[in-house]
Amino acid sequence: MSSSITLYCRPGYEKECGAEIQDRAASIDIFGYFTFDKNQGLVTFNVYQADDAERVIQKVRLSSLVFTRQWFVTLASQVALPDYNRVEAIIEALGSEWQYADLRMEMPDTNEGKELSKFCRKLAVPLRQAMRQHNMLTKKGDTDGAILHAYFHSGKEVTLGYSYANNSSEHAMGIMRLKFPNQSPSRSTLKLDEAFLTFVEKDERDTRVTSGMKAVDLGASPGGWTYQLVRRGMMVSSVDNGPMAESLMETGQVKHFQMDGYKFTPNKPQIHWLEKKLSNGQMVPVPDQTPIDWMVCDIIDKPQRSAKLIIDWMQKGWCRECIVNLKLPMSKKFETIKELLAKIREEIGDFCKVQAKHLYYDRDEITVHVRYVVKRENNR
Ligand SMILES: C[S@@+](CC[C@H](N)C(=O)[O-])C[C@H]1O[C@@H](n2cnc3c(N)ncnc32)[C@H](O)[C@@H]1O
Repeated sequence: MSSSITLYCRPGYEKECGAEIQDRAASIDIFGYFTFDKNQGLVTFNVYQADDAERVIQKVRLSSLVFTRQWFVTLASQVALPDYNRVEAIIEALGSEWQYADLRMEMPDTNEGKELSKFCRKLAVPLRQAMRQHNMLTKKGDTDGAILHAYFHSGKEVTLGYSYANNSSEHAMGIMRLKFPNQSPSRSTLKLDEAFLTFVEKDERDTRVTSGMKAVDLGASPGGWTYQLVRRGMMVSSVDNGPMAESLMETGQVKHFQMDGYKFTPNKPQIHWLEKKLSNGQMVPVPDQTPIDWMVCDIIDKPQRSAKLIIDWMQKGWCRECIVNLKLPMSKKFETIKELLAKIREEIGDFCKVQAKHLYYDRDEITVHVRYVVKRENNR
């Protein structure tokens, strides 16, 4: 018997999402093929054995997939919903032998999907009640259990499935919705905000992204990213030939460098390197003190150039962590990104952790985060 995984991605990126899960599953000897609804941000990865879908979501970390926002093992695909008794139809399709810790009502990330959200909100109340009656919901506060996803293609059709709370996005549809800060000079600001919230664990934000730190923002004009750094109390070197917003310059936290970001070097780049031992016994170089805490880069250029920038900065020990956008070329997006991430990991993977995600506020670009894996003694 076959099985499948349902995956969400940015509408228009279904092929990349499908190619990536196919590739990752193949790396653990699970083979399959994908189908997708064009521009709906929905991909189905079909595998041949009944437990293959479960094995994939057990063995692959969602956070390691670049193009997938959310995923679940499909339980019932495209269940037809009658005009009345929709709840009963859903309960019947689910069967009542399993229990779930939570229910997520989801829909396409499209304009039509937005219209469905009211319908879903209304239906959620009786559906939850019915699940409770059938003893299908675990006690409140069960954070390890399975999450039931109900993905409404329309008001007439739903796909049902489950994910595990410890390996899925905590956000409905895998989308972190952020409020645009009116004081920011550009909408790009949300990309960096989302990147910090995605890549820096909640309990480490106070120490890793905090006031008094030094940051460099490459390709900074007009200042949406610099705004996020300033907001977090950092002192920022903003590099761009274009102008920076007056409001940011007035904070006294920003120094504007009108020059090529790829040529910018921080002051005092002499680094004292320490040898650190990884848990596997391997010795790796780690800078004792970096001149810069955070380097961020939103320059629109070839992704190969920005990937090289990451490698250079980390090899030279110029910053502790970086967030860099790689703009996606028009074709072969997945292959290019796979190649570039492999190159970055090959060059600095022994002493750096490399993560990448196509964030909700990213457009035709992905965001890469890199940090040294071994903590410094006096890690802030
Ligand atoms: C997408 S915009 C950056 C927007 C900015 N992150 C914000 O939030 O307001 C890209 C910027 O990169 C700048 N740029 C392009 N090539 C550059 C280079 N080689 N060095 C520095 N800046 C560059 C452009 O002038 C442009 O302002």
